[in-house]
Amino acid sequence: MRAANLRFDVSLPNLCDATPQVFTRITEYVAINAALGERMDSFELNKIAGAILFTLLVYLGVQNLGDIMFSTQPADPTAYVVEGVVEEGAPVVASVAEVVVPISELLQTASIEKGEKVAKKCVSCHNFDIGGANKIGPALWGIVDRDIGATDGFNYSDALAGHGGVWDYEALNGFLENPKKYAVGTNMAFAGLRKAKDRANIIAYLDSLKAQ
Ligand code: HEC
Repeated sequence: MRAANLRFDVSLPNLCDATPQVFTRITEYVAINAALGERMDSFELNKIAGAILFTLLVYLGVQNLGDIMFSTQPADPTAYVVEGVVEEGAPVVASVAEVVVPISELLQTASIEKGEKVAKKCVSCHNFDIGGANKIGPALWGIVDRDIGATDGFNYSDALAGHGGVWDYEALNGFLENPKKYAVGTNMAFAGLRKAKDRANIIAYLDSLKAQ
């Protein structure tokens, strides 16, 4: 896989363009002096030579400075290798993919109150009260760390009944982001909470629904 070549086409102010003007001025100067019948002394010639040299130095200096500031070397082929990009020879564009922050980290700043608001999306199917009855979905009081598909008296789909494991933060995060993807065949007709913050908040709320 190739990394993108970082090229900057720097159009330097072309000092060569100014050179003809400098020469025109010098020619004029010499011509005027000749017309006036004055001989140019070596001091004046030195000044002219100095001016030309100075122009040249500035030109070279600017050019090198440009090279130093904007490297036009092809990029190191091992640099900026973006994991997972398989297209051969395609320009590597760092995608603005959502940075996945672990749920444990998000939970540190999660809000139970905000989670309770998010839960309004669930109340048509779920009961959050202590000892609450099952509705379309199983009762959710004390769901955190309970076995998956284990609420008494609820008729689960095979997807959840045979899932195994417990509803820890990771599992809830995965399920609530996209229920149908996490548990293929689930009866939970809910699109999912796309925002990680919403999931963290509701998990914090669910976590508060237990004997203190
Ligand atoms: C349209 C109804 C509906 C909505 C809305 C809904 N659920 Fe569910 N939920 C269900 C059903 C039905 C199940 C059982 C799924 C199965 O058996 O596959 C379920 C299962 C669950 C489970 C697994 C429980 C267990 O005992 O294993 C959790 C956790 C859950 N839902 C959380 C939520 C949360 C949180 C929300 C809101 C963000 C939500 N659900 C929104 C219907 C819904």
